[in-house]
Formats: sequence, C-alpha cells, structure tokens
Amino acid sequence: MSGILMNMWGCMKSSSVFDCTLIHLPVVHNVAGNITAINNGEGIIPFEVNRVYYLYDIPGGEGRGAHAHKELQQLIVAASGSFDITIDDGKTKRTFNLSRPYLGLYLPPGLWREINNFSSGAICLVLASENYQNEDYLRDYEAFKLYKHVRFVEYSKTFLDLSWTWLNDPEIKELTMTNDFTKEDQKRFFDSLTNKEDYLVKGICFDSKPIGACGLKNIDHGKAEYWGYIGEKKYWGKGIGQIVLDEMVRTARELLLEKLYLKVDRNNQRAIRSYKKFGFIEESDSELILMTYKL
Ligand SMILES: CC(C)(COP(=O)(O)OP(=O)(O)OC[C@H]1O[C@@H](n2cnc3c(N)ncnc32)[C@H](O)[C@@H]1OP(=O)(O)O)[C@@H](O)C(=O)NCCC(=O)NCCS
Repeated sequence: MSGILMNMWGCMKSSSVFDCTLIHLPVVHNVAGNITAINNGEGIIPFEVNRVYYLYDIPGGEGRGAHAHKELQQLIVAASGSFDITIDDGKTKRTFNLSRPYLGLYLPPGLWREINNFSSGAICLVLASENYQNEDYLRDYEAFKLYKHVRFVEYSKTFLDLSWTWLNDPEIKELTMTNDFTKEDQKRFFDSLTNKEDYLVKGICFDSKPIGACGLKNIDHGKAEYWGYIGEKKYWGKGIGQIVLDEMVRTARELLLEKLYLKVDRNNQRAIRSYKKFGFIEESDSELILMTYKL
C-alpha cells in the first residue's frame, strides 16, 4: 500500500470535522451552459479519483448514507438541487448545506457522515479515492467511536516495561501461553527489534493510554503468525480485539503477505470467538488450535 494510504490510516484515527473543507471547483462559463471538469493530477482535490457514483431519484426530504470509511477519501457535490451533510468525528458534529454544483465538500477518512434533506430532483455526486471495498466501511456508530479511540503506536520502552507486568499476570500468562522470562530476556528482545526482518510489533493505545501489544512473527514466504493481547483487563470484552486484528490484516496486506495464522489455547474461548468472528478458520483441532486467515 502506498505511503499516502498509510498516512490516511493515521488520518482515520485523528481526523476531525475541522479537516473537512469546501473546495471551489473550476467553472468554464458559456452562454450555452457552464462546465466543471476535474482531472487527476491537477491538484484541484487532494486525492486521485478512482471511482465516481451518484445518488438520484431520492424522494424529497429523505436521508442516506450513515457510515464512515477507514481509508476512503471523498469529494461530495450537489450536482443538482440541494442536501445537508452532517459530519461527526465522535466528539463534534458539523452540518454543511450543499446547493452549488461548483462547490465540493472534501471528506478525509474516519468521519461519520449522514446526508439528509434532499430537495426533490437532487443529485449527490461523489468522487472517491478507492474502488468499493466492503471492509473499508464502518456501518455501526458505536464501532466507529471505538475505532477512533484505539491507536497503534511504536512499541517503545514504556510498552516493554508494561509488558513485564502484563505478561507476568498469571491469567494473561496462561491465556497467551507465555513462558517464564527475565528482564535480561526482555532487554535482548527489545534490542533485537531494529534488526529483525521476520518480526514486527506495535503498541496498542486507548486514546493515549497504553493497553497492550500486537504483532506479526515468523514472517516468511507470504505467511506470518499473528499474536496480540490486551494487557489492561478492563479493556477486554469491548470489541477492541477486532480492531487489533483489522490493523494486523492491513499491515500484512501492506507487506504483500497472503496468509496469516495463529495458535490459541482451546480454553481461551474469548480469543477463539474473537478470531472466528473476524474470519479466521479453525484448521487443526487439538489442545492448541491452529487458525488461518486468507488475505
Ligand atoms: C483475546 C483478546 C485480544 C480479545 O479481544 P476482546 O476485545 O477482549 O474481544 P471481544 O470483546 O471482541 O470479545 C470476543 C468474543 O468473546 C466473548 N467473550 C467475552 N468474554 C468472554 C469469556 N470470558 N468467555 C467466552 N467468551 C467471552 C465476547 O462476547 C465476544 O463474542 P461476541 O462478539 O460473539 O459477543 C483480548 O480479550 C485479550 O487480549 N485477552 C487476554 C490475552 C489473550 O487471550 N490473548 C490472545 C492469546 S491467543
């Protein structure tokens, strides 16, 4: 995936309603009627257009489109008639009324949007940065708000120190099948990170609070082993595990991997449910379950 898209992912997490801007599109005036053209590469809008779609025949007063995107950028234009777009970043809401075919509303990723109050005969034209991808949509408002809270950051010394406490907790130690380890083992692991090509690790934060870690190991021949845990127990059972898996799948796709696998203890029912819900398939059935996910 391109650097632009990677930045967009960070943008998804931090974008606010104040990142939406109205863009004045070029107009060629003509007595026979005006024309507005948008070409890729001219810098009129801040992304390359890969898809165009439009909504029409919408009954007057109707509303559409309550969802958010993880990576997609959009420009929305009232090509005819008018409508309201309400944008929500989980904290603040803003409503724009669009009624001019030469004004486009730019939406970065990571904003909940609803389109309402269509005038009769209105046409809502959308220029989008990506083709349709179902997994790019967040259609549940609570899931969207959770997404905005969970961030993935560099695995720093702070996470290393916290992981001493997290992984020495008897319950987490058993669930994660962690062997005994010393502070020296930890230091060796941390120092080796910069040179390891078959391994990556990220810190998980809820807002700015470190709550766990995740990563890929044994990255080799198009495959990698997923691992991850939430070390702060009060964050268990809230659905954060799905967001962690989503992040690791996105990372694995960036690395052009084809398959992820993981190993989980048969008794770790919460983790097994979380993996199955995400789409991992159980492949071997013993005390240690092997699960895989095709990318
Ligand atoms: C495993 C882990 C990453 C899952 O993340 P999570 O955000 O807590 O998971 P979710 O909230 O999505 O819950 C997963 C499912 O388990 C269910 N669940 C919650 N607590 C449960 C419990 N005690 N027993 C069984 N199922 C449970 C949830 O209801 C949910 O199922 P549903 O979506 O069908 O309702 C996280 O709990 C964790 O880190 N646990 C400790 C360490 C660990 O086990 N790591 C994995 C090692 S392989």
